[in-house]
Parts: sequence; C-alpha cells; structure tokens
Amino acid sequence: MAPAELLLVVVVTAAAALLLAAPASAALPRVLHAPKADGTLAVLAVGDWGRRGQFNQTLVAQQMGEVGQKMDIDFVISTGDNIYDDGIANTSDPLFKESFSNIYTAKSLQKPWYLVLGNHDYTGNPLAQLDPAIRNVDSRYTAIAKSFIVNSGFADFFLVDTTPFILHYWNNTKFDWRGVAPRDTYITNILKDLEYALTESKAAWKIVVGHHPISSGCGHGNNTELEELLLPVLKAHGVDMYVNGHDHCLQRISSRDSHLQFLTSGGGSKAWAGKFKATPDKVEFLYDGQGFMSMRLSKTEAHLAFFDVAGNALHCWGLTKTAAAGRASLA
Ligand SMILES: *[C@@H]1O[C@H](CO)[C@@H](O)[C@H](O)[C@H]1NC(C)=O
Ligand SMILES: *[C@@H]1O[C@H](CO)[C@@H](O)[C@H](O)[C@H]1NC(C)=O
Ligand SMILES: *[C@@H]1O[C@H](CO)[C@@H](O)[C@H](O)[C@H]1NC(C)=O
Ligand SMILES: *[C@@H]1O[C@H](CO)[C@@H](O)[C@H](O)[C@H]1NC(C)=O
Repeated sequence: MAPAELLLVVVVTAAAALLLAAPASAALPRVLHAPKADGTLAVLAVGDWGRRGQFNQTLVAQQMGEVGQKMDIDFVISTGDNIYDDGIANTSDPLFKESFSNIYTAKSLQKPWYLVLGNHDYTGNPLAQLDPAIRNVDSRYTAIAKSFIVNSGFADFFLVDTTPFILHYWNNTKFDWRGVAPRDTYITNILKDLEYALTESKAAWKIVVGHHPISSGCGHGNNTELEELLLPVLKAHGVDMYVNGHDHCLQRISSRDSHLQFLTSGGGSKAWAGKFKATPDKVEFLYDGQGFMSMRLSKTEAHLAFFDVAGNALHCWGLTKTAAAGRASLA
C-alpha cells in the first residue's frame, strides 16, 4: 500500500472509532455574527423580563434602547426567564408580542436577540421558543437550540441550557422535559459538547451564558449542581465570564482562584427582592434593582457596565487581555 493510501485508511478508521465512542453527543449548533469592521463588538445582556411591561420592564427596555443607540449594538443576549409566568403555549401565543415585540421597540434593539431558556420558560412550552416559526412573528428571536454558540470572531458566546441541571425541578410536574429526559444523559452530553467547543475555540474572549447563577450574593444564591458540574469545565478552559440571570439583580463577582468573572444580569423586570446570600467569592458590585448590562469588546479589551432604569451607569469596569497569555486581567 502506498503511504498516502495508508494514511487515508488510518484517518477513516480513527473517525469511525470517534463516532462509535461518542454516539449521542454532537457539535453545538452555531450562529456566525461577525463583529463590526472596526474590530469591535457591542452587546447588551438582560434577563428575567417578559411581564407585559410591568415591574419597570418598559423602563428597562427604554434605557436599553438609549444605551443601545449610543453603543451601536450588534446584538442582545437574554439570560432566560423570557416570558412569565409559564413561558408561551405556542408560537402564536399573544403573550409573546405583549412581553417582547411590543416592549423592546427602540430602533437600536431591532437586532438579533440570542436567548437561553429559564425555568419559567420550561413550565410552558419551551419548544415553541425554539421553533423557527416564532421568527415569522418577530424576526429577532433567535434561540436556535437549547444550547448553542454565537461566534463573533474574537469572541465566542456559549449559551448553555442550565435548567435541567437543577435537581429539584425534576420533582415538579409543571416542567416540560421533551427532548431533555433522561437528565443524566442530557447533562453529560452538554458538558461534553461544551468542553469540545471550548477546546476548539480560537476566540480571545470565551463567554458562557446560562440562566442560573454559579456564584451569587443575591436571593437565590449559588447553585450546587452548577458549581459541581459546570464550574470545573469553565475554569479548566479559561472562560473569561459567566453571564446569568435567575437572581433579579445586577451583580459582578470575581472568582478567587481563577480569572473568571460571575456576572448576573437578571434585572429585566421584577426586582427589589431584598434577599441576600453569602458567597466567599469577591463581590465587586451588587444592585438589587432593575437594569441591564452592556459590553464593548475588542480583541484585547472589554468594557462592561450595569445600567439602572434611569439610564445611570451604576458600575463600569474593564478587562484586558495580553495576546501571549490569553488570560484576562482587571484593567
Ligand atoms: C421602578 O424603578 C424605580 C426606580 O428604581 C423604583 O423606585 C420602583 O420601586 C420600581 N418599581 C417596581 C415595581 O419595582
Ligand atoms: C396558542 O396559545 C394561546 C394561549 O394559550 C391559545 O389561546 C391559542 O388557542 C393557541 N393557539 C393554537 C394554534 O394552539
Ligand atoms: C424529589 O422527591 C423525592 C420524593 O418525594 C424526594 O425524596 C427527593 O428528595 C426530592 N428531590 C429533590 C432534589 O427535591
Ligand atoms: C458559591 O460558589 C462559589 C463559586 O463556586 C464558591 O467559591 C463558594 O464557596 C460558594 N459559596 C457557598 C456558600 O456555597
């Protein structure tokens, strides 16, 4: 056999073995969203919002519009609990327009929205939010799968479906686990797919988005399941930020043993719970009221801010990356 033929056989055999070894996992679906021509990317992140405008949802939306205009944002990320109390029933459920299309009306917000589902979306019909038909109702609404990647060149956003991780939800008959159960297989596959995607990622910034917090000083606090299962993957692969909702507050926490930042943007509507938990990580900023987060990224710098319902920048910070180390540090 000629050397070239031999090589081909070896490659084919290796590929077949890989397929057999990992039958149920697959590459996470991805959306390509190129950054601006000037090499920057501007994004807003909001969570826990869909309440027909109530609980200051409309005020948050207006300020997102203002800030979005100034920053010329490229897209919006939703950290989940998109529609209260129980998601939507189908793609023509009027709640969808009442809580999304009719609220985020500003010109600057007419960009793709990349979304994860929260526990409140799961007690309705979670598949309706993933159905491409929803984009006939509002073309912005882009949840192409329960977990997927938004690839923006120098930044990769890994959107992870965290609701199935939370054990006690599995005792609640309101949750719709179609396409999810059994839990163990589903979670094993998510973690495998995420590890693979993080390993393959060439992006300078690796940002993971989920609904539930890993480390939090607000009402819900830490999530044991995510601390045990998801956090080690994030640390092992040098993830820069974990962005979540679920706690209805704005919060920045620095990990004590890695460069990971835990960022909560869950102030899209109902807030002011007045409940706090202890976390031994370093709480850099915590606001119990409504608002959202902005980020402007370049290959070497990240500028982030939290805004309240009046458009005040409550907390601004920066991260820089040295190309050699590939690690972020506080600017
Ligand atoms: C709306 O926001 C204002 C300003 O933060 C706050 O005083 C008020 O309590 C909020 N309303 C609700 C329903 O949370
Ligand atoms: C969709 O859901 C709404 C709200 O529950 C309901 O009124 C409507 O009949 C449903 N439409 C279809 C086509 O099932
Ligand atoms: C789920 O329910 C079972 C039976 O009531 C109980 O033993 C178990 O502790 C519950 N699990 C969680 C995580 O709540
Ligand atoms: C909360 O999570 C963080 C990050 O894993 C951890 O350092 C801390 O010990 C946890 N705190 C509690 C009270 O579980």
